[in-house]
Amino acid sequence: MSLLVKGGTVVGPTGTQVADVLVEGEKIVALLDPSFGHSITPDQMIDAAGKYVIPGGIDAHTHMELPFGGTAASDTFDTGTRAAAWGGTTTIIDFAVQRTGEVVQDGLAAWHAKADGNCHIDYAFHMILGGVDDDSLKAMDQLVSDEGVTSFKLFMAYPGVFYSDDGQILRAMQTARENGAMVMMHAENGIAIDVLVQQAIARGETDPIYHGITRPAALEAEATNRAIALAEVARDCPLYIVHLSASQALEHVAQARDAGRNVFAETCPQYLYLTLEDQLGAPGFEGAKWVCSTPLRSKHESHAKDLWKGLRSNDLAIVSTDHCPFCMKDQKELGLGDFSKIPNGIGGVEHRVDLIYQGVVDGQLSLERWVETIATTPARMFGLYPRKGIVAPGSDADLVVYDPNATTRISVDTHHMNMDYSAYEGVEIKGRVGTVISRGEVIVADGNYHGRKGRGKFLERGLSSYLV
Ligand code: URP
Ligand code: ZN
Ligand code: ZN
Ligand code: ZN
Repeated sequence: MSLLVKGGTVVGPTGTQVADVLVEGEKIVALLDPSFGHSITPDQMIDAAGKYVIPGGIDAHTHMELPFGGTAASDTFDTGTRAAAWGGTTTIIDFAVQRTGEVVQDGLAAWHAKADGNCHIDYAFHMILGGVDDDSLKAMDQLVSDEGVTSFKLFMAYPGVFYSDDGQILRAMQTARENGAMVMMHAENGIAIDVLVQQAIARGETDPIYHGITRPAALEAEATNRAIALAEVARDCPLYIVHLSASQALEHVAQARDAGRNVFAETCPQYLYLTLEDQLGAPGFEGAKWVCSTPLRSKHESHAKDLWKGLRSNDLAIVSTDHCPFCMKDQKELGLGDFSKIPNGIGGVEHRVDLIYQGVVDGQLSLERWVETIATTPARMFGLYPRKGIVAPGSDADLVVYDPNATTRISVDTHHMNMDYSAYEGVEIKGRVGTVISRGEVIVADGNYHGRKGRGKFLERGLSSYLV
């Protein structure tokens, strides 16, 4: 099967060009300059005139079916990857979980069992280490060499759940420094946060907004700085700070980067658009919709502005969603009367490509930087490049035809995620995902879905090609 995506403006990290993109089977085989004329008669043609043609989005941070807070994230690999496809994301990297006391490989096998045969788009895994000991350190080597899992997430937050202490973190970093893996860090001082949480509850401060108030920016900054120091001691182990939300944390990342360190960070759309006051502080229990960690930050401070600037300067390399949806009914409601029992997470895997495109419309990012932060850099950072993340001959034909003249209105009534609310209800984007192609197959076109569960393949990743 050949497919020609005709006359669109192809956007890559280093520039744009009007081109016909020729696809044979699952691969891009050529970018042809239409002004020279060619006589190709493909099996299928997609008119992309007046539209952008970008590499399929790569969401490097999702949690499908994650058991958390006494329940489990409401999107399965089936529903979550289908919603991702609708939104122009053609690859996710989800977090497999080793629970404390569990064998790492068993945790990975459990994640394969959840995903296998259920995904609509391609997928890969990072590994959450819930317990760092001699066995799990050995397992890190095995996952890197045999399993295509080359990044490991550790938590400085959630004591008693996923938490690692500084000694455990250092040992994992030393191991990663040897085997080439990336250490990903949830950087919040969970021990101090737990004290603040207990004190707030004791004072009767139980509304959702206290979730944010008890997780101050200073404790994200402190943990970020500590992670950076530990990585330095581990001979500059590559470090990737996940879901960075606070200006003060970004400062530490910027400083490390200015010193030439292998320190990277992502942020998420929720921190660019939503705030402590307007969302988490909504009346009654409504704010539970936006309980996530790190928390939404105050609109009276400069966080969102600084995050956009960080995206421009590459102190923030990637926008991921941290997609971890919970319904209000029976899930977020577990925390009625006690914010600390609200399961942490926001769903957004369907809207990242649009929400960051709105940054282009608003003058925050260039078109090239949009593509870089949502597709190209995630591919390079996590060992998927050049198979993914670029519109180029030899790469997988994962393409999105994006219409800058249409609009998207986000709503629970029209989204495809398995959530009974939208964190972005009513938000309008001046752009719209049109056609979505995954490995040469048109899976979304003209508002219709043509994909199917089970077509997504597991991707074994190589080492990061983003290091200095
Ligand atoms: O609130 C969040 N972020 N939930 C998902 C787990 C995590 O910490 O990434
Ligand atoms: Zn986290
Ligand atoms: Zn800098
Ligand atoms: Zn997460």
